[in-house]
Amino acid sequence: MDRFVYVCLFFLFISSTSKLTTSYPLSTKSRWIVDEKGQRVKLACVNWPAHLQPTVAEGLSKQPLDSISKKIISMGCNCVRLTWPLDLMTNDTLALKVTVKQSFEILKLFEDVSGIQTHNPKILNLPLFNAFQAGAVARMTSTPSSVTLTGKTCMHAGPGLQSKNVLFHPSSGLCVTNSPSYKLATVRLGPCPKADPCTFNPNKGILRINKMCVEAPNVAGQKVKLGVGTKCSKLGQIAATKMHFSFKTSNGLLLCLDVDERDNIVVANPCKCLTKDASCDPAIQWFKVL
Ligand SMILES: *[C@@H]1O[C@H](CO)[C@@H](O)[C@H](O)[C@H]1NC(C)=O
Repeated sequence: MDRFVYVCLFFLFISSTSKLTTSYPLSTKSRWIVDEKGQRVKLACVNWPAHLQPTVAEGLSKQPLDSISKKIISMGCNCVRLTWPLDLMTNDTLALKVTVKQSFEILKLFEDVSGIQTHNPKILNLPLFNAFQAGAVARMTSTPSSVTLTGKTCMHAGPGLQSKNVLFHPSSGLCVTNSPSYKLATVRLGPCPKADPCTFNPNKGILRINKMCVEAPNVAGQKVKLGVGTKCSKLGQIAATKMHFSFKTSNGLLLCLDVDERDNIVVANPCKCLTKDASCDPAIQWFKVL
């Protein structure tokens, strides 16, 4: 469930008239999603992009929020996956000081500014973060009275989420932590609020977790360890995303930090997708200091 909670970033669950008996909140029971009474609920979701450059949900310059919400319900959907721009979480200035209007104006999208003025004037002068919240709340309340909506926010703290930097693993929604249950300082993924503080110095290539440095193994598939002293690995950030942490072994092999999905332990493996194979998915090897 944790994984789901962090990956989803922001989900809104909407129940239609036919499901007025659904009682919230939803949770998981084995492989099923169930309501508060333990009854199984099936989600039919639409993806509503809000993570693009203006960091405002798409389409609000074209139609009022309320009519888009109603349209979604009329299509038989009961769930909206509102994508969340990571920048809103990591950059307080962007989230709290830049308004919707300014965000579009910076991008010279003046038509969208007047479109939002016409269709959704209430959000135009809100800071981006508040517009995101307002949009989510409106989706929950602007639908017909025969429809019940409840919202579930994950990472609900919003900007300034963390008081420390952590090493985030976007594809799982988890963060890197130093597992105390092992004698050796094993590095694994766990819930972000409990993650250990992390820093990366790109000039020196030293990645520190809990003040200890990452010691990468010399052989592919082996665990990454933490240590103090001279064995700190010098990590680089290959690929344009800067999300691959790579290093050279003593044999000159290029390896990257990776995750063993069976137990969420951080390991080193050959770097994925360094060729231009469009079908290749490198996301499991992506990490980002947030
Ligand atoms: C945060 O957002 C502001 C406003 O868009 C921008 O000027 C600044 O460069 C951003 N900071 C970072 C670290 O990206």
